[in-house]
Amino acid sequence: MAVKTLIINDQLISAREEETILQAAQDAGIHIPTLCHLEGVSDVGACRLCLVEIVGSNKLSPACVTQVAEGMEVKTNTERLQKYRRTIVEMLFAEGNHICSVCVANGNCELQDLAIEMGMNHVRLEYQFPQRQVDISHDRFGVDHNRCVLCTRCVRVCDEIEGAHTWDMAGRGKNSHVITDVNQPWGTSLSCTSCGKCVNACPTGAIFDKGSSVGEMVHQRDRIQFIVTAREKKQWFS
Ligand code: SF4
Ligand code: SF4
Ligand code: FES
Repeated sequence: MAVKTLIINDQLISAREEETILQAAQDAGIHIPTLCHLEGVSDVGACRLCLVEIVGSNKLSPACVTQVAEGMEVKTNTERLQKYRRTIVEMLFAEGNHICSVCVANGNCELQDLAIEMGMNHVRLEYQFPQRQVDISHDRFGVDHNRCVLCTRCVRVCDEIEGAHTWDMAGRGKNSHVITDVNQPWGTSLSCTSCGKCVNACPTGAIFDKGSSVGEMVHQRDRIQFIVTAREKKQWFS
């Protein structure tokens, strides 16, 4: 196992060569904000919340998909990064319809947590108020596209952990959205096993348990990591 030594925020760190900056930082107790990252599934670098500065490079790099390198010097919380991150979160709020006061995930939402972390007390951008659908055709779950931040965590968890590949992305630009099977109501999907993994993976209230009221939707995201660890260690085989 080759080890790389790097500096993150003036702290000397050792990491396995295959690790990302995000993993190395987390192992060292250094917090980097994330949204599309979910422990247990692959990273896609979609949200850009985890951008960091690498000394000697002008461009910002997403920590979740950038591998560590020997002698690398990383800054995770500069004023420039704080500004970028706040703008990204504001864009997410302006682009969707995130009305926390009536949301099932109020108080248990990663987008809300990020807004608080970034000190976002208002949105400086113009709200788009897009017209989006809610699909409650599934017996147990619903999806409210108004609250979707297009992180693709549902897509990846359903594909990589459940093996069903019910979710996918469709559309371009502001018309991008998640779909089930061949863009049909979730309740008519033949591939969905109703396992609930996407419900727990969703960072916002976009995918929810039917019957949840305001603030009642509690996501158990550590269950995904639990399943992955149990499979890797073959804990379910005697
Ligand atoms: S409930 Fe399970 S199988 Fe169905 S869409 Fe969600 S993750 Fe996929
Ligand atoms: S439904 Fe949830 S998990 Fe899926 S892309 Fe939207 S926000 Fe992410
Ligand atoms: S967490 Fe790295 S790009 Fe989203």
